[in-house]
Amino acid sequence: MNRPVMEGLRLNVPAGVRHAKLIDWVAKMAALTEAAEVHWCDGSAAEYDRLCAQLVAAGTFRKLNAELRPNSYLACSSPSDVARVEDRTFICSQNQEDAGPTNNWVAPAEMRARLETGLPDGTPALFRGCMRGRTMYVVPFSMGPLGSPIAHIGVELSDSAYVAVNMKIMTRMGAKVLDALGTDGHFVPCMHSVGAPLQPGQADVAWPCNATKYIVHYPETQEIWSYGSGYGGNALLGKKCFALRIASTMGRAASQGANGSPGWLAEHMLILGVTSPEGKKHHVAAAFPSACGKTNFAMLIPPAGLGGWKVTTIGDDIAWIKPHADGRLYAINPEAGYFGVAPGTNDKTNLNCMASLKRDVIFTNVALTDDGDVWWEGMTDEAPAHLIDWQGQDWTPELARQTGAKAAHPNSRFTVAAINNPALDPAWDDPNGVPIDAFIFGGRRSTTVPLVTEARNWTEGVYMAATMGSETTAAAAGAQGVVRRDPFAMLPFTGYNMSDYFQHWLDLGRKLESAGAAVPKIYCVNWFRKDGSGKFVWPGYGENMRVLAWIIGRVAGSAQGSENAFGVTPRHADLDWTGLDFSPSQYEQVTSLDAQAWKTELGLHAELFQQLAHRLPAALAETRRSIEQRFSR
Ligand code: GTP
Ligand code: SPV
Ligand code: MN
Repeated sequence: MNRPVMEGLRLNVPAGVRHAKLIDWVAKMAALTEAAEVHWCDGSAAEYDRLCAQLVAAGTFRKLNAELRPNSYLACSSPSDVARVEDRTFICSQNQEDAGPTNNWVAPAEMRARLETGLPDGTPALFRGCMRGRTMYVVPFSMGPLGSPIAHIGVELSDSAYVAVNMKIMTRMGAKVLDALGTDGHFVPCMHSVGAPLQPGQADVAWPCNATKYIVHYPETQEIWSYGSGYGGNALLGKKCFALRIASTMGRAASQGANGSPGWLAEHMLILGVTSPEGKKHHVAAAFPSACGKTNFAMLIPPAGLGGWKVTTIGDDIAWIKPHADGRLYAINPEAGYFGVAPGTNDKTNLNCMASLKRDVIFTNVALTDDGDVWWEGMTDEAPAHLIDWQGQDWTPELARQTGAKAAHPNSRFTVAAINNPALDPAWDDPNGVPIDAFIFGGRRSTTVPLVTEARNWTEGVYMAATMGSETTAAAAGAQGVVRRDPFAMLPFTGYNMSDYFQHWLDLGRKLESAGAAVPKIYCVNWFRKDGSGKFVWPGYGENMRVLAWIIGRVAGSAQGSENAFGVTPRHADLDWTGLDFSPSQYEQVTSLDAQAWKTELGLHAELFQQLAHRLPAALAETRRSIEQRFSR
């Protein structure tokens, strides 16, 4: 079925692919981008090895010491391309109001002119000729187990082999997805270019990218167009672009039909299984903002004192959640791998993660040791005497003391398959998903927000999640450590109007409750309170099991707490402290409610609601008023 697109270019459509719409789209995009070649990824191990070897030859990858870190690679990006770019991320709905005040918006026609067709003043479209001299990879992928009623298929076209090999790890990728698509199956088209065409004879750089970046979503036509970045969520389009921004609009749209369906949820949540000492299993989904502890919580190892508990991982970043015929919410992890934060990961904080990273890993922007292995801040107590830092410079602990230079970028990451995780839950790729017993929301707050609070009901839980604040991290370009509202940890990821998103959550709970189902309980946590000297007071990591055990106890009806203006919190005596010396006065430091700080906090909630006023559900404004009243009493 090879047919010429232009002189010298063949589409190389694999035998057996009969999906006319897909082939036409690939042809159109090859013509637009003037790609030198088209390669359809089959997802095989041989293809992965071949592309990795090619990336080594191009200088993008360095193969790590095969004895210390078998089958693993290090990529170092351009210093200008290290994180998601929220100010360059656009939701291009027909009406600006449907994108809402928290998203950047440009009219679809204007954005299409910029990206695809060219501006009226003659400025050429960014995608015109953007793949000259490069191969366009056709990457078919499934988000979720192939054939699951909760799963969806996408096809990414990318001029980055780095993207192709990362997508192989992060998704179910390759020929079996094309088989599942058949002649007319539905897929989300995901167009990606690093925006660095090569002239004949021009030498490539190790990390091609462009200073101009656009991460664009057309929610109504379910399309993604990404230009200029090769990094993470900007470029691996199955992740934030599809599985959160587009999928969140799909889940809500499903609730807008005449059939009364409650729709579904696409959330920035880990999913874990937790088995009690009595052998009873529960499932929890938890939303923490970027770089605020999802991967760590999903792989938690209970401390020795709580040895009877066991935590298993279903997902570490994204959950797709649908109501089931039995009235409960079931969640799947749409991903097949982890793109996780390296710094801070070590044998004490996250042993399961360190074990996952023993082999078959792509590291991005960590440091290189003299024996060809990797290192990052926090991996070991003592840094190696010499490293090559993520920008290729010599690095020593002495230099770091003098200049503060980091060996690894604070947003350096690993890409690894879920099956490498020793704590992987047996149901991690069950097409039906797992039933959710509790939702947890948690920001990074050095003050104000207590260790854990249980919402008194669904509406107050939605309020807690909607008003969540968190200090910004290196996961996104821009200032760090600044408190901002990050509703549901979805501020950068909701593909539609945030007020409509709140309404969707409220409606979903109401529909489940009126059908007689018990909705999951909702909790708010904060692992990050600091003392006067700037140290974390709560030990965190595995010790978070004590909070999780209390939550499961509440779900099961056995754990106690005391009620305050915001909900129910455990007293010191309500948590199991076996094996940990954490005094009532230390506990006070992570649980106290400061009246002045909460006055300010409620003011920040009001500010958020002011910004979202146009479509804000009345129930949330009412909840704010009643919390304020309870608090002032
Ligand atoms: P994304 O992949 O960006 O969505 O991040 P994530 O939510 O999965 O965050 P991750 O688990 O990778 O943790 C980010 C950083 O927070 C790491 O440096 C961790 O070491 C640190 N961290 C995680 N859990 C805790 C905790 O309980 N206490 C403290 N103090 N730090 C934590
Ligand atoms: C996040 O920023 O929340 C991530 C990393 O999980 S990225 O895939 O780059 O979005
Ligand atoms: Mn994330």
